[in-house]
Amino acid sequence: MQAYSQGFAHVYNTRWGGYAKQVAPLILDFYSSTKIGQKNKSVLDLCCGTGQLAVHFLQKDFKVVGIDLSEHMLCFARENARQYVETGQAEFLKGDASDFTLDKRFGLVVSTYDSLNHLEDEQALRRCFQCTHAVCNGYFIFDMNTRHGLKRWNSIQVDQASEDALIITRGIYDGKSDRAWTKITGFVRASNELYQRFDETVFNTVFELERVKNALLDAGWKDVHFARIQDLKTPITEPEKEGRVFIVASK
Ligand SMILES: C[S@@+](CC[C@H](N)C(=O)[O-])C[C@H]1O[C@@H](n2cnc3c(N)ncnc32)[C@H](O)[C@@H]1O
Repeated sequence: MQAYSQGFAHVYNTRWGGYAKQVAPLILDFYSSTKIGQKNKSVLDLCCGTGQLAVHFLQKDFKVVGIDLSEHMLCFARENARQYVETGQAEFLKGDASDFTLDKRFGLVVSTYDSLNHLEDEQALRRCFQCTHAVCNGYFIFDMNTRHGLKRWNSIQVDQASEDALIITRGIYDGKSDRAWTKITGFVRASNELYQRFDETVFNTVFELERVKNALLDAGWKDVHFARIQDLKTPITEPEKEGRVFIVASK
């Protein structure tokens, strides 16, 4: 279980929401070009984080439900999408991606920024695929870090570009095992001009992509392919050679 902490949620919202903003229009374009995407404007954002992807879909008149394990991340999501939460177009719920049920059904289920690498093992991933299959009438699109991509994590980055925070990120991965770690330490300037420290340790589980595909098929998903975000329609044949890969599944 990896619910992001309060300090990290604040930093995530201000610094790391950009990825979701970047990929959201490309996912939306793909989905809108499908048969179901032309009539069904409902999306479940699994591991929605601080809600940047959700806001993009909301601006395009989609109904959005976001699920995340972290109440701190959900607080930012609700704030970022406040006008839509107030009208009932959006709701953000605390839940586990590998163990949830909803009464609503969606045309699209999406999960971005390698969130599903946060699941503990293949059993949890399989449960997640069953949960998504049960609530989706159309497409399930998510991205994952590959083993190849996680090898690049082995580094230390210091972000001191602005005065309001200093963030040190350490990636640790031996390249062989099924778990890569990131330890993030941050000092964030508080209103009293003092800096408040937070520490966050998260892991990414390495999933062999052929096993991911088989797990999706076992859960009842019909067409499954790997793709790059720039062209979600076109299958790629060597996904393990990518740093990050998108998985597109449909019913
Ligand atoms: C890397 S962030 C991605 C957030 C967002 N999807 C984005 O693209 O910016 C991963 C998110 O997954 C959430 N998370 C981790 N494990 C989860 C689980 N089992 N169920 C639901 N959310 C989870 C974390 O709290 C965090 O908000």
